[in-house]
Amino acid sequence: MENQWDFNQVIDRSSTGSVKWSPSVLEQNFGKGRGNLLPLWVADMDFACPDVIYDAMEKRLSHRIFGYSLNDSQHNGALIDWFERRHGWQIQENSIVNTPGIVPAVHYLIQCFTKPGDGVLIQPPVYYPFARAILANGRHVVENPLVLKNLRYDMDFKDLEEKTRDPRVKLAVLCSPHNPVGRVWQRDELERFGEICLKNNVLVFADEIHCDLVMPGFKHTSYQSISAELTQGSIAGVAASKTFNLAGLAHSCLVISNETYRHEIGSFFNCLGFNSTGTSNLFGAIAARAAYEGGEPWLIDLIRYIYDNFLYLKKRIEKELPGVRVFDLQATYLPWIDFNPLGLSQKKIIEIMEEKAGIALDHGNWFGLNGAGFERINIACPRKMLSRAADAIICAFIPFCK
Ligand SMILES: Cc1ncc(COP(=O)(O)O)c(C=O)c1O
Repeated sequence: MENQWDFNQVIDRSSTGSVKWSPSVLEQNFGKGRGNLLPLWVADMDFACPDVIYDAMEKRLSHRIFGYSLNDSQHNGALIDWFERRHGWQIQENSIVNTPGIVPAVHYLIQCFTKPGDGVLIQPPVYYPFARAILANGRHVVENPLVLKNLRYDMDFKDLEEKTRDPRVKLAVLCSPHNPVGRVWQRDELERFGEICLKNNVLVFADEIHCDLVMPGFKHTSYQSISAELTQGSIAGVAASKTFNLAGLAHSCLVISNETYRHEIGSFFNCLGFNSTGTSNLFGAIAARAAYEGGEPWLIDLIRYIYDNFLYLKKRIEKELPGVRVFDLQATYLPWIDFNPLGLSQKKIIEIMEEKAGIALDHGNWFGLNGAGFERINIACPRKMLSRAADAIICAFIPFCK
């Protein structure tokens, strides 16, 4: 079926202050002289957001007065309807707390619910700002690495039991769906994870920012939809920002049903100068509401486009670079590619990717030691750009294939 929206359109982002496309940010992260790499790294999309969002923002913009504002009174209702309709998760309105982003929220939760020296558990290879947040706040990173077997990543529950038994481990960050390995955690996996954390009094932060970007054949299970016990022992993070490409609007939400936790975070937010229901920005909430109310048809087409991009990339890479493996994508627009069968070091892979292919990807070792030899590619871009990247990667790595 034809896509109704033109995801094929290439839009120049070079003069918009885009982090992904900024030559100076590219140089900072990839080295001097690498400001012109083709950027398929930072997780935002090179697609325009749907008209419903643009129109809602434009309507408010035309008023021209942007003074102190209450949160859009219909934002929470739209969010609640979305999660009930799409994920069967019933969110109580008074449990919604605003934050300017999920990464800032991870920092706040670490500061609010742990003390310096405590342990915070993560499951590498995983989104690297988690480890950075833990270290920046003087806490210990406790790793419960995912296990890779038969081209599939699973949680290691035995190791999780051992690690959470240590009373210094106070918080666990669950990435669901998982970035970068693209897994959609199944209900039984989440139940087991939750049981272990509850038993050991470890608060769970369920980062579900990718929950709406689930590929055909898979279904996301919201952690807090599983049981009252898991809901009480956790805080969930959700946002329209990843799904609808709104990250620059700095708006996301925490769902905190547990009253004690909500009061604690409320007092903590007061110390930060936020109000107790958090802080947000006028346009972020307007855009999120519009997305939740009217963005679904666009999202359905977007997922189809992303999945076609994925099939295209997987087919080309696996056919033209024998040995290299592209993991099945259950969720996110960030396929995970295994270059290990080529027998090259991570350093060499980086050198080939950047110097020969000219492409900026998130290198596997950034996500943890067990990410070495992998690369994460952002395929939320027009097909033309992806095929240019695929051509360059294939051409650069072909001499190293057996
Ligand atoms: C798992 C995960 N959490 C959080 C974020 C970023 O969240 P925010 O932009 O709301 O800080 C990302 C962005 O890629 C992510 O992949």
